[in-house]
Amino acid sequence: MNRRRRVYEGKAKILYEGPEPGTLVQHFKDDATAFNAKKKDVIDGKGVLNNRICEFIFENLNAIGVPTHFVRRLNMREQLIREVEIVPLEVIVRNVAAGTLSERLGLDEGTQLPRSIIEFCYKNDELNDPLVSEEHITAFGWAAPQEIDDIMALAIRVNDFLSGLFLGVGIRLIDFKLEFGRLYENEMVRIVVADEISPDSCRLWDIGSDEKLDKDRFRRDLGGLLEAYTEVARRLGIMSENEPVATARGPVLVQ
Ligand code: C5P
Repeated sequence: MNRRRRVYEGKAKILYEGPEPGTLVQHFKDDATAFNAKKKDVIDGKGVLNNRICEFIFENLNAIGVPTHFVRRLNMREQLIREVEIVPLEVIVRNVAAGTLSERLGLDEGTQLPRSIIEFCYKNDELNDPLVSEEHITAFGWAAPQEIDDIMALAIRVNDFLSGLFLGVGIRLIDFKLEFGRLYENEMVRIVVADEISPDSCRLWDIGSDEKLDKDRFRRDLGGLLEAYTEVARRLGIMSENEPVATARGPVLVQ
Protein backbone atom coordinates (compact mmCIF):
# COMPACT_ATOMS: atom_id res chain seq x y z
CA MET A 1 0.00 0.00 0.00
CA ASN A 2 2.82 2.39 0.84
CA ARG A 3 4.77 2.13 -2.40
CA ARG A 4 3.73 5.72 -3.09
CA ARG A 5 6.26 8.47 -2.63
CA ARG A 6 6.17 9.96 0.85
CA VAL A 7 6.23 13.74 0.55
CA TYR A 8 6.17 14.65 4.24
CA GLU A 9 5.80 12.95 7.61
CA GLY A 10 4.50 14.91 10.59
CA LYS A 11 3.68 13.87 14.15
CA ALA A 12 0.18 12.57 13.44
CA LYS A 13 -0.03 12.46 9.63
CA ILE A 14 1.86 11.41 6.51
CA LEU A 15 1.46 13.05 3.10
CA TYR A 16 1.93 10.89 0.00
CA GLU A 17 2.06 11.87 -3.63
CA GLY A 18 -1.51 11.88 -4.98
CA PRO A 19 -2.97 10.15 -8.03
CA GLU A 20 -2.90 13.33 -10.14
CA PRO A 21 -0.58 16.34 -10.26
CA GLY A 22 -1.59 18.91 -7.69
CA THR A 23 -3.05 16.30 -5.32
CA LEU A 24 -1.75 14.55 -2.21
CA VAL A 25 -2.99 11.73 0.00
CA GLN A 26 -3.22 12.68 3.69
CA HIS A 27 -2.83 9.61 5.96
CA PHE A 28 -3.88 9.79 9.63
CA LYS A 29 -1.61 7.86 12.00
CA ASP A 30 -2.52 6.56 15.47
CA ASP A 31 0.40 8.46 17.03
CA ALA A 32 -0.47 10.94 19.75
CA THR A 33 2.08 13.59 20.69
CA ALA A 34 1.99 16.59 22.98
CA PHE A 35 4.33 19.31 24.19
CA ASN A 36 6.20 19.34 20.87
CA ALA A 37 6.51 15.52 20.84
CA LYS A 38 8.10 15.34 24.31
CA LYS A 39 5.14 13.12 25.27
CA LYS A 40 4.27 10.31 22.83
CA ASP A 41 1.98 7.30 22.59
CA VAL A 42 0.12 5.24 20.04
CA ILE A 43 -3.67 5.08 20.44
CA ASP A 44 -5.18 2.36 18.22
CA GLY A 45 -8.02 3.76 16.16
CA LYS A 46 -7.34 7.49 16.71
CA GLY A 47 -6.30 8.02 13.08
CA VAL A 48 -9.48 6.39 11.80
CA LEU A 49 -11.66 8.63 13.98
CA ASN A 50 -9.77 11.82 13.10
CA ASN A 51 -10.00 10.99 9.37
CA ARG A 52 -13.79 10.69 9.64
CA ILE A 53 -14.35 13.70 11.90
CA CYS A 54 -12.07 15.81 9.70
CA GLU A 55 -13.88 14.64 6.54
CA PHE A 56 -17.23 15.61 8.07
CA ILE A 57 -16.02 19.09 9.06
CA PHE A 58 -14.15 19.89 5.84
CA GLU A 59 -17.02 18.66 3.64
CA ASN A 60 -19.37 20.97 5.50
CA LEU A 61 -16.92 23.89 5.24
CA ASN A 62 -16.63 23.31 1.47
CA ALA A 63 -20.44 23.19 1.30
CA ILE A 64 -20.85 26.60 2.98
CA GLY A 65 -18.23 28.18 0.72
CA VAL A 66 -15.23 28.15 3.04
CA PRO A 67 -12.46 26.97 0.72
CA THR A 68 -10.40 24.02 2.00
CA HIS A 69 -7.78 21.64 0.62
CA PHE A 70 -10.13 18.66 1.12
CA VAL A 71 -11.36 16.71 -1.92
CA ARG A 72 -12.74 13.41 -0.57
CA ARG A 73 -12.07 10.58 1.85
CA LEU A 74 -10.36 7.60 0.21
CA ASN A 75 -10.46 4.94 2.93
CA MET A 76 -10.42 4.46 6.71
CA ARG A 77 -7.22 6.41 7.23
CA GLU A 78 -6.72 8.50 4.12
CA GLN A 79 -8.16 11.47 2.30
CA LEU A 80 -7.42 13.07 -1.05
CA ILE A 81 -6.39 16.71 -0.74
CA ARG A 82 -5.24 19.51 -3.04
CA GLU A 83 -1.54 20.28 -2.80
CA VAL A 84 -1.01 23.70 -1.22
CA GLU A 85 1.93 25.75 -0.01
CA ILE A 86 1.51 25.81 3.75
CA VAL A 87 1.64 29.26 5.38
CA PRO A 88 4.09 28.75 8.29
CA LEU A 89 1.58 29.83 10.95
CA GLU A 90 -0.59 28.05 13.49
CA VAL A 91 -3.72 30.15 13.74
CA ILE A 92 -5.47 29.67 17.07
CA VAL A 93 -9.04 30.82 17.64
CA ARG A 94 -10.22 31.06 21.24
CA ASN A 95 -13.71 31.52 22.65
CA VAL A 96 -13.05 30.47 26.24
CA ALA A 97 -9.81 30.72 28.26
CA ALA A 98 -7.81 27.48 28.46
CA GLY A 99 -4.35 26.05 27.88
CA THR A 100 -1.51 28.43 27.15
CA LEU A 101 -3.77 31.52 27.20
CA SER A 102 -4.81 30.72 30.77
CA GLU A 103 -1.17 30.18 31.74
CA ARG A 104 0.08 33.33 29.99
CA LEU A 105 -2.57 35.71 31.33
CA GLY A 106 -3.49 33.99 34.61
CA LEU A 107 -7.10 33.35 33.54
CA ASP A 108 -9.11 30.52 35.07
CA GLU A 109 -9.79 27.80 32.52
CA GLY A 110 -13.40 28.01 31.40
CA THR A 111 -13.65 31.83 31.61
CA GLN A 112 -15.72 33.09 28.67
CA LEU A 113 -13.63 35.60 26.68
CA PRO A 114 -15.12 39.05 25.98
CA ARG A 115 -14.94 38.18 22.29
CA SER A 116 -13.28 35.53 20.13
CA ILE A 117 -9.52 36.03 19.95
CA ILE A 118 -7.22 35.01 17.09
CA GLU A 119 -3.56 34.28 17.86
CA PHE A 120 -0.71 33.50 15.48
CA CYS A 121 2.18 31.17 16.24
CA TYR A 122 5.20 30.72 13.97
CA LYS A 123 5.30 27.06 12.87
CA ASN A 124 8.75 26.01 14.01
CA ASP A 125 9.26 22.93 16.21
CA GLU A 126 12.80 23.92 17.21
CA LEU A 127 11.43 27.17 18.65
CA ASN A 128 8.28 25.50 20.13
CA ASP A 129 5.93 27.42 17.77
CA PRO A 130 6.33 30.85 19.41
CA LEU A 131 3.47 33.35 19.59
CA VAL A 132 4.03 36.14 17.02
CA SER A 133 2.23 39.31 15.95
CA GLU A 134 1.13 40.51 12.51
CA GLU A 135 4.23 42.74 12.55
CA HIS A 136 6.51 39.68 12.72
CA ILE A 137 4.49 37.90 10.03
CA THR A 138 4.74 40.70 7.49
CA ALA A 139 8.29 41.78 8.42
CA PHE A 140 9.64 38.26 7.93
CA GLY A 141 7.47 37.64 4.85
CA TRP A 142 5.59 34.60 6.26
CA ALA A 143 2.34 36.05 4.86
CA ALA A 144 1.35 39.27 3.10
CA PRO A 145 -1.04 41.76 4.77
CA GLN A 146 -3.87 40.77 2.39
CA GLU A 147 -3.25 37.09 3.20
CA ILE A 148 -3.48 37.84 6.94
CA ASP A 149 -6.83 39.56 6.28
CA ASP A 150 -8.06 36.51 4.33
CA ILE A 151 -6.82 34.14 7.05
CA MET A 152 -8.59 36.10 9.80
CA ALA A 153 -11.85 36.31 7.84
CA LEU A 154 -11.79 32.56 7.15
CA ALA A 155 -10.84 31.77 10.77
CA ILE A 156 -13.90 33.71 11.99
CA ARG A 157 -16.18 31.90 9.53
CA VAL A 158 -14.79 28.53 10.62
CA ASN A 159 -15.28 29.50 14.27
CA ASP A 160 -18.89 30.53 13.69
CA PHE A 161 -19.64 27.33 11.80
CA LEU A 162 -17.89 25.01 14.27
CA SER A 163 -19.31 26.74 17.37
CA GLY A 164 -22.85 26.21 16.04
CA LEU A 165 -22.18 22.68 14.86
CA PHE A 166 -20.83 21.60 18.25
CA LEU A 167 -23.37 23.57 20.29
CA GLY A 168 -26.07 21.63 18.45
CA VAL A 169 -24.66 18.36 19.81
CA GLY A 170 -24.05 19.58 23.37
CA ILE A 171 -20.38 20.48 23.00
CA ARG A 172 -18.69 23.82 23.80
CA LEU A 173 -15.96 24.81 21.34
CA ILE A 174 -13.32 26.26 23.67
CA ASP A 175 -10.54 26.86 21.12
CA PHE A 176 -8.92 25.30 18.06
CA LYS A 177 -5.95 25.53 15.73
CA LEU A 178 -6.09 26.07 11.98
CA GLU A 179 -3.48 25.96 9.26
CA PHE A 180 -3.82 27.65 5.89
CA GLY A 181 -2.29 27.03 2.49
CA ARG A 182 -1.83 28.85 -0.80
CA LEU A 183 -3.68 27.08 -3.57
CA TYR A 184 -2.29 27.88 -7.01
CA GLU A 185 -4.78 27.45 -9.87
CA ASN A 186 -5.05 29.12 -13.28
CA GLU A 187 -2.32 31.67 -12.50
CA MET A 188 -4.29 32.62 -9.40
CA VAL A 189 -3.44 32.02 -5.79
CA ARG A 190 -5.91 31.88 -2.94
CA ILE A 191 -5.82 31.06 0.74
CA VAL A 192 -7.62 27.86 1.79
CA VAL A 193 -8.03 25.98 5.07
CA ALA A 194 -5.54 23.09 5.16
CA ASP A 195 -4.16 20.41 7.51
CA GLU A 196 -6.89 18.96 9.77
CA ILE A 197 -9.67 19.91 12.15
CA SER A 198 -10.28 17.15 14.69
CA PRO A 199 -10.33 16.58 18.47
CA ASP A 200 -6.51 16.60 18.18
CA SER A 201 -6.61 20.28 17.23
CA CYS A 202 -9.68 21.54 19.14
CA ARG A 203 -10.71 21.83 22.77
CA LEU A 204 -14.21 20.39 23.08
CA TRP A 205 -16.06 20.31 26.42
CA ASP A 206 -19.36 18.61 27.11
CA ILE A 207 -21.84 21.39 27.87
CA GLY A 208 -23.48 19.73 30.87
CA SER A 209 -20.44 18.34 32.66
CA ASP A 210 -17.42 20.25 31.22
CA GLU A 211 -15.93 16.82 30.49
CA LYS A 212 -13.04 17.10 28.03
CA LEU A 213 -13.64 15.37 24.70
CA ASP A 214 -10.30 16.26 23.07
CA LYS A 215 -6.54 15.77 23.14
CA ASP A 216 -6.27 17.26 26.63
CA ARG A 217 -7.28 13.72 27.77
CA PHE A 218 -3.85 12.63 26.53
CA ARG A 219 -1.91 15.80 27.41
CA ARG A 220 -3.22 15.70 31.00
CA ASP A 221 -3.20 11.90 31.47
CA LEU A 222 -6.97 11.74 31.93
CA GLY A 223 -7.32 8.49 29.92
CA GLY A 224 -10.28 7.59 27.72
CA LEU A 225 -9.12 9.46 24.63
CA LEU A 226 -10.54 6.99 22.15
CA GLU A 227 -13.88 6.92 23.96
CA ALA A 228 -14.00 10.73 23.94
CA TYR A 229 -13.23 10.98 20.19
CA THR A 230 -15.78 8.23 19.53
CA GLU A 231 -18.35 10.22 21.50
CA VAL A 232 -17.66 13.31 19.35
CA ALA A 233 -18.06 11.21 16.17
CA ARG A 234 -21.25 9.66 17.52
CA ARG A 235 -22.81 13.01 18.44
CA LEU A 236 -21.97 14.39 15.00
CA GLY A 237 -23.85 11.42 13.50
CA ILE A 238 -20.74 9.88 11.99
CA MET A 239 -21.18 6.71 14.07
CA SER A 240 -24.47 5.00 14.74
CA GLU A 241 -25.99 5.08 18.23
CA ASN A 242 -25.74 1.42 19.19
CA GLU A 243 -22.18 0.70 18.16
CA PRO A 244 -19.65 -0.29 20.80
CA VAL A 245 -17.53 2.68 21.90
CA ALA A 246 -14.21 1.07 21.11
CA THR A 247 -13.00 -2.46 20.69
CA ALA A 248 -9.50 -3.89 20.74
CA ARG A 249 -9.59 -3.68 16.96
CA GLY A 250 -10.53 -0.02 17.11
CA PRO A 251 -13.83 1.72 16.52
CA VAL A 252 -16.38 0.49 14.01
CA LEU A 253 -17.51 3.27 11.71
CA VAL A 254 -20.58 3.78 9.59
CA GLN A 255 -19.59 3.78 5.90
O1 C5P B 1 -1.93 24.88 23.90
P1 C5P B 1 -2.85 26.00 23.53
O2 C5P B 1 -3.76 26.44 24.62
O3 C5P B 1 -2.09 27.19 22.93
O4 C5P B 1 -3.76 25.43 22.35
C1 C5P B 1 -4.82 26.16 21.79
C2 C5P B 1 -5.58 25.25 20.81
O5 C5P B 1 -4.77 24.97 19.68
C3 C5P B 1 -5.95 23.89 21.40
O6 C5P B 1 -7.23 23.53 20.89
C4 C5P B 1 -4.90 22.94 20.87
O7 C5P B 1 -5.43 21.64 20.68
C5 C5P B 1 -4.56 23.57 19.52
N1 C5P B 1 -3.16 23.39 19.14
C6 C5P B 1 -2.82 22.46 18.17
N2 C5P B 1 -1.52 22.28 17.79
C7 C5P B 1 -0.54 23.01 18.36
C8 C5P B 1 -0.84 23.96 19.35
C9 C5P B 1 -2.18 24.12 19.73
O8 C5P B 1 -3.71 21.79 17.61
N3 C5P B 1 0.72 22.82 17.95
